[in-house]
Amino acid sequence: MELNCKIAEMELKHAGTLNPGPWVDHSRFVAIACRNIACRCDDLSSDSAYCFGLLHDIGRYAGISSEKHLIDGYRFCAERGWEKAAQICISHAFMIQDIKTSIGKFDISEEDYQFMERFIKNAVYDDYDRLVQLCDALALPTGFCLLEKRFVDVALRYGTPPATVDRWKKILEIKDSFEQKINCSIYTLLPGVMENSFF
Ligand SMILES: [Fe+2]
Repeated sequence: MELNCKIAEMELKHAGTLNPGPWVDHSRFVAIACRNIACRCDDLSSDSAYCFGLLHDIGRYAGISSEKHLIDGYRFCAERGWEKAAQICISHAFMIQDIKTSIGKFDISEEDYQFMERFIKNAVYDDYDRLVQLCDALALPTGFCLLEKRFVDVALRYGTPPATVDRWKKILEIKDSFEQKINCSIYTLLPGVMENSFF
């Protein structure tokens, strides 16, 4: 079955019934941000970007987990033949292509860990991977927010593992590169970002 917006929406909705939580609305906002930014890029499809945003955390269908949701999402999409979406289920958490830069817990088998380690190292990222990495950091379950606010929010909840600052720098680099491409601030494309960040 070929991936399209309707199917991606349906899969997210279904996954939300299996494991309800704020991750579902977060995914919807990530998808909208991806679509709105991709719309301005000649070489990106806004529908594809929207689908990848909707599905990036789909592995959460399997229940509450940490990094396990990455590989669960990868398998979910790969089984359906959605190769790029499958890659993004893992790549969105690794703006730096090194498994040791993770901020989560590896609640997976040794075998799965080794698979992910190799996968992350060998993956070739394109603008869709980078777009989801960026938009993941722009979307709360309640809407869009300033990247720096989201960074601090995550740091307060999970602490600051060694790779934290390098991860922030990478996201800010990705933001700058998209802004050069679209020739405006990404925040102008995120409805409600002011209200959600400051009020
Ligand atoms: Fe996410």
